[in-house]
Parts: sequence; C-alpha cells; structure tokens
Amino acid sequence: MTRGAALRCLSMVGAIATAIGIWFSVFPVRAGDSPDRPAWKALYHRPSEIPFPDEDPYTEAKDTLGRMLFFDPILSGAGNHSCASCHNPSLSWGDGLPKAVGEKQLPLRSPTLYNMAWGQIYGWDGKFRSLEAVAFAPITSPANMNRKEDDLFAALAAVPDYRKAFSQAFPDDPAPNRQNIEAALATFERTLVSSRAPFDLWIEGNESAIGESAKRGFDLFNGKGGCAECHEGWNFTDGSFHDIGTASGNDIGRARLFPTSVKLRYAFKVPTLRDVARRAPYMHDGTEPTLEAVIDLYDRGGIDRPSRSELIKPLGLSSQEKSDLIAFLKTLTEEPEPFVSPTLPR
Ligand code: HEC
Ligand code: HEC
Repeated sequence: MTRGAALRCLSMVGAIATAIGIWFSVFPVRAGDSPDRPAWKALYHRPSEIPFPDEDPYTEAKDTLGRMLFFDPILSGAGNHSCASCHNPSLSWGDGLPKAVGEKQLPLRSPTLYNMAWGQIYGWDGKFRSLEAVAFAPITSPANMNRKEDDLFAALAAVPDYRKAFSQAFPDDPAPNRQNIEAALATFERTLVSSRAPFDLWIEGNESAIGESAKRGFDLFNGKGGCAECHEGWNFTDGSFHDIGTASGNDIGRARLFPTSVKLRYAFKVPTLRDVARRAPYMHDGTEPTLEAVIDLYDRGGIDRPSRSELIKPLGLSSQEKSDLIAFLKTLTEEPEPFVSPTLPR
C-alpha cells in the first residue's frame, strides 16, 4: 500500500472511530498530513561542519583577530560605530531597523550574518563575489563607516595588541593591510551559524519538538505555498535572485548588474529564514513589518509586473493556513547561545 493510500485508509478508519466515540488521537499520522512529508523532511538536515574556502582556511588566530575588528569602532571614521552596530549579535546579527543607519541613512536593511559560510555571492543584489570582498566596502563607504583606508592601517599598526594579533594571524606578512583585514573578518563571519532550533529537533526525529500547526505549515511551505522552491534546504535559501513583487521604489536590485534582463528587475537575494521570527522588519527595504504582513504579501502575490517570478502568484490561503505557515516559520527560531563580545585592544 502506498503512503497516500495508507493515509486515506487511516482517515476513514479515524472518521468511523470518531463516530462511534472511540478515542483515536493516539494515531501517529493524522488525516491532514501530506503524504510527501517524509520525503520533504529528508531535505532539511543540518550540515555537520562549516565550509571554509581553500584560499582562506580557518585558523583560530584569524578568527580571533576578525572578531576584534568586527566589534571595534576603530573601523569607522568618526570612531562611533563598528560592524556590530548594524550586525548586532543580540538582534540575530541584524539591527532591527527597516533601513541601516551609518554615517548617513542607507537605502537597504542590514541583513543577518547567520550562515554566511554557505553563501555564493553576497549583498541583496549580489554585487559581492565573496565574503572577503564584502569586508572593505562598508569601511570605506562614505555613507557607512567612512574610514580612509590608509588612516585605518596606521591606526591599527599603532595599537600593540593589534600588531601582535596580526602577526599571529599572518606570520608571513603581518601588516594590517586590506587583504589581511578581509581574510580575518571573513573567517570570523563564517563561524556565525544559526543555532539548532525546534525545527531541527523535529527533522532529527523528535515528533513532539514542534506543534501540529507548524507541521501543517511545513507541508504548505513545501507544497501549496511553493516557498521551498526558493527557500531551499536547511538554510532556507538557494542563493538565487527574484522579484517577488516587493520593491515599489526606484531600487531595481540585481538588474543594476544585468541591465538588459527583464527578470532581474526588482530581483533581490533569497534571504535565509533561520531565526526569522526575531528579525523583523522584513525584506531588503524593511517594508514588511511582521511575518503576518509577509504572508499576506505572498497570499496576494505581490506586485504583478513582467519581472515578477513565475513562482509568485496569488495563493488563496485560508486564515488557518496563514497561521500554520507562521507557526512553522517560528520553529526556525531559537534563542542563540550567549555571545561574548571580545575585549578590544587599546
Ligand atoms: C550602517 C550599517 C552597517 C555597517 C556598519 C556594516 N554593515 Fe554589513 N551590511 C549592511 C547593509 C545595509 C547590507 C546590505 C548591503 C547590500 O546589499 O548592498 C550589509 C551587507 C553585509 C554583508 C552581506 C550579507 C549578505 O546576506 O549577503 C556582509 C557579509 C556584511 N554586511 C558584513 C559587514 C562587515 C564585516 C562590516 C564591518 C566591516 C559591516 N558589514 C558593517 C549594513 C551595515
Ligand atoms: C520566487 C522565489 C521565492 C518564493 C517562491 C518565496 N520566496 Fe520568500 N523571499 C524571496 C526573496 C527574493 C525574498 C527577499 C525579497 C526582498 O527583499 O525584496 C524573500 C523574503 C522572504 C521573507 C523575509 C525574510 C527577511 O529576512 O526579510 C520571508 C519571511 C519569506 N520570504 C517567506 C516565504 C514564504 C513563507 C514563502 C511561501 C509562501 C516564500 N517566502 C516564497 C524569494 C521567494
């Protein structure tokens, strides 16, 4: 008997049983469960280790230096903000704002830095080819940290503990130069992995780790909602770029890099959904204040225009289905292990 037939059979038996008043809730499978659930669940196992690239392998000394640099306002021209001002560990490595504020207000929301090690290209529009390549952009950007490169190198070289940390991390060429700063920051960022959430425990076989509504939400996420087409696998992103009908402003997203592509107009990177319940507001421009608003957007199908992905269309979700999807998304969130900020060298 197929699983589908078995389920139908079970639900019939269930109905008869209820009719004659027999208590049947001990049944392991319920009538509403998707027969595809076990196959879908197999796609969500967490990887066992962090991938580090051959060009920039992990060392503890680079990680330690990167961690100090990440939290140090010495990286900003005015000495008033660090990477962590916008990528704050207690806010899931984002800042909780619709749009980031550096030296000036930026046009984009600060993304989480969870699971960067599994990324391919970075930035909402994918303009950065590696994690190393992102590290210097905020430092020298006038609107962001507004720090002159040479001033930064001189300031770091003037601090004895930094000189020591650079020579431990890069014994062959310990100068606080651009390449070394990029490698240290990227190494540290690759260590930021979202913690195990109730969803992971469920995937590992603990049936009571998440509720029935969340399980139905998982079925919708993979089935009727079509969410997993883009939010794929344990990190809930396939790293691709799509117009899901959000941006109504002037930001054309990935089409800046590919001006002739119709489909890349208003296309932004598929974000991870790990820890999503703690990272409001949502989207590249922070325009969706809550998860409820996000689900309503998908239910409407966003702005209908030539660039909109074929995968996005009105879904016709019932209010029960909407709350099931939200219950599911909440199971991807776990209180992180407390993060201890480093002592800054002075
Ligand atoms: C003023 C706030 C702010 C500061 C400070 C800041 N960032 Fe960001 N960060 C952002 C925003 C906004 C984006 C999205 C930029 C884009 O898409 O072009 C971003 C994107 C990133 C990304 C890419 C994430 C992704 O999902 O692709 C990385 C990595 C990153 N920042 C690391 C850093 C590092 C390292 C520093 C310190 C050197 C830093 N950031 C400082 C706001 C900030
Ligand atoms: C066609 C690919 C695609 C599909 C299908 C899709 N998404 Fe998305 N999702 C995206 C992209 C791209 C973004 C970012 C858009 C932006 O920033 O403007 C996003 C953003 C989100 C966000 C906000 C995350 C954040 O940090 O800002 C949530 C939550 C979300 N999606 C959930 C879902 C759910 C639930 C479904 C199914 C109902 C779904 N997505 C279907 C591509 C997709």
